[in-house]
Amino acid sequence: MTKFTDIKGFVFDLDGVITDTSVFHSQAWHQVADKVGAPWSQELEDGLKGISRMDSLEMILKAGNLSDKYTEDEKVDLATEKNTNYLKLVDQMTPANILPGIKKFLDDLKAHNYLISLASASKNAPKVLSKLQLTDYFPQIVDPQSLTKGKPDPEIYLKGAELINLKPEQCIGVEDAAAGVEAINAANETSIGIGDPKILAAADIKFNDTGEMTLDHIKSQMN
Ligand code: G6P
Ligand code: MG
Repeated sequence: MTKFTDIKGFVFDLDGVITDTSVFHSQAWHQVADKVGAPWSQELEDGLKGISRMDSLEMILKAGNLSDKYTEDEKVDLATEKNTNYLKLVDQMTPANILPGIKKFLDDLKAHNYLISLASASKNAPKVLSKLQLTDYFPQIVDPQSLTKGKPDPEIYLKGAELINLKPEQCIGVEDAAAGVEAINAANETSIGIGDPKILAAADIKFNDTGEMTLDHIKSQMN
């Protein structure tokens, strides 16, 4: 395993790591699932984490055996409706929506000269960061529109490392989604999984919640 001293940068997921927008995404998708008559379950909710907008819709339709029921245009309309509902929730966000310990962790990273980038599949990431007043911490953001494949493909995490001019081995990726941890591992970065350790079993380093994520705790799990 990579040594703590080899690490020079952190590549962050956004939703469910920096802020609890994963709850808002779930709420907005649940509304779509109810509308089309697809069953909602905890398993589906967990599986949607980290998945792009259109792929998420496909997963919901598949859960209801509805994949062939809608035209491409109708699917775009459903995804747009979800996004409109999601953005209503985002509009009410303030820095109080930053998850516990994250602001301090970002300050510690800056103080220790670690490089930072964002690897979120969300097209709304710049808007969310702005609502949280965290834009200045993330000068480098992977543009999800530039990707050919979503998580669990490593592409987004490889780009996150590239943006800060580091080799993947010099980066730690931070995720709350199983698909995201898989992407980090496939990119050859060290993975931190935040949340249910059963769902994030593949993560190199695990924390139950963001409040536990400190440089000291990471160091002790790596050495
Ligand atoms: C993140 C979230 C997903 C969301 C995806 C796309 O990965 O975890 O729940 O579907 O971003 O977000 P967007 O804001 O572009 O619809
Ligand atoms: Mg996430």
